[in-house]
Amino acid sequence: MEANNIYPIFDKMLAREDKEKLLGQHGLMVWFTGLSGSGKSTIAIALERELHNRGILCRILDGDNIRTGINNNLGFSEDDRMENIRRIAEVSKLFVDTGIVTIAAFISPSEKMRQMAASIIGRDDFMEIYVSTPIEECERRDVKGLYAKARRGEIKDFTGVSAPFDVPECPALELDTSVLSLEESVSQLLKLILPRISK
Ligand code: ADX
Repeated sequence: MEANNIYPIFDKMLAREDKEKLLGQHGLMVWFTGLSGSGKSTIAIALERELHNRGILCRILDGDNIRTGINNNLGFSEDDRMENIRRIAEVSKLFVDTGIVTIAAFISPSEKMRQMAASIIGRDDFMEIYVSTPIEECERRDVKGLYAKARRGEIKDFTGVSAPFDVPECPALELDTSVLSLEESVSQLLKLILPRISK
């Protein structure tokens, strides 16, 4: 071996394509954006189950496993949300580069945050899904009682009430859960995703 060869073959990390070959699938980022209570996590969970049943390895990232763990030091200021999304995107990139279908369910309220995520992960691998359930419906559901608190002023900077949400400019798909059933949403997603991840 030549003395100047500091990266001999046995030191080289296996590439994404090696992992994809092993798994028999392509990695992809499925990025849900939408208001609190719009149905992002519910759709993400149903989608993961359907893909899993078809032999596709997936990983969901959502508030339950991220904001209570790696991001438990972050709040909801503009800067903290940006850092929340940046870390999520960096972690997602590792999963996508392992050939895994990675599903993120975060409000990700600004175009700037979503653009940052897309550029960290890579635009070709990034599929933006806008869960466009109207705020009136999210607020009517108010699963966590947070809209009521936000209206009473007990939570500040609440997205849609006292903090902004930028409607995505050109999502790959828009799903309004006040109109579509869960099955309909998942079936539209599968149509879009399966051709992209099949080997
Ligand atoms: S993001 O804006 O940084 O993308 P993320 O999706 O992680 O937000 O967290 C949103 C969840 O945190 C909401 O569904 C809600 O349960 C909770 N939450 C607590 N405070 C706020 C707030 N001020 N604005 C929005 N969501 C909040």
